[in-house]
Amino acid sequence: MIDTDAPLDEEDLDPDPIAQFNDWFRLAAQVGELQPNAMALATVTPEGDPAVRMVLLHRADQQGFVFFTNYESAKARDLAARARGALAFYWPRLHRQVRVVGSVERTDREESLAYWAQRPCGNRIAAAASPQSRVLPDRALLEIEFARLERLYPEGPPLPDFWGGYRLRPDAIEFWQGRTHRLHDRLRYTRAADGWRIERLAP
Ligand SMILES: Cc1cc2nc3c(=O)[nH]c(=O)nc-3n(C[C@H](O)[C@H](O)[C@H](O)COP(=O)(O)O)c2cc1C
Repeated sequence: MIDTDAPLDEEDLDPDPIAQFNDWFRLAAQVGELQPNAMALATVTPEGDPAVRMVLLHRADQQGFVFFTNYESAKARDLAARARGALAFYWPRLHRQVRVVGSVERTDREESLAYWAQRPCGNRIAAAASPQSRVLPDRALLEIEFARLERLYPEGPPLPDFWGGYRLRPDAIEFWQGRTHRLHDRLRYTRAADGWRIERLAP
């Protein structure tokens, strides 16, 4: 039985928010969340509108939160104009949410190459075949390109220049624990000169 009303107190928190995040993340996987690594990624469009979509977290470490995508997609265009992003994770079985905000930069190509090599062949072909976020006349065009690349690269295509990782370096991370009567716990880490400051927010 998962305790969805476990209190979250300041003294329970790791002083390092990344260690705290990975703790919660591991538990989310242990309790059988379907895609604990699914996160909403918010950006700002060049027109100033908010934009949000789901992506998969590859890794969270001291450098930040890494995900992979198309460098010519709408999100990439957003990040080129304003290199800031926000993430939200939701793990319903634990009644927990994590929110992150920070600056975003590309990972280096070695990191993208290493991840690309691990991906199943079909996923690599699909990523190479898809001009992500562009308007398509129909689905057939995509399937023709998939089939062309499949014939050309039976072992999978090389990493295209337009595909790779981003790293969001957090300035603030909030841990939200659902509680009875919606009297939830919210604890937010904010980057300070000498480490991380932790504050409690009202639910
Ligand atoms: C659960 C889930 C995970 C996803 N993971 C990724 C991902 O890791 N990278 C990616 O480029 N798109 C991913 N997508 C697709 C994106 O949500 C989105 O459709 C795509 O990246 C284009 O977004 P954009 O037009 O805002 O750039 C995922 C979608 C879902 C529902």
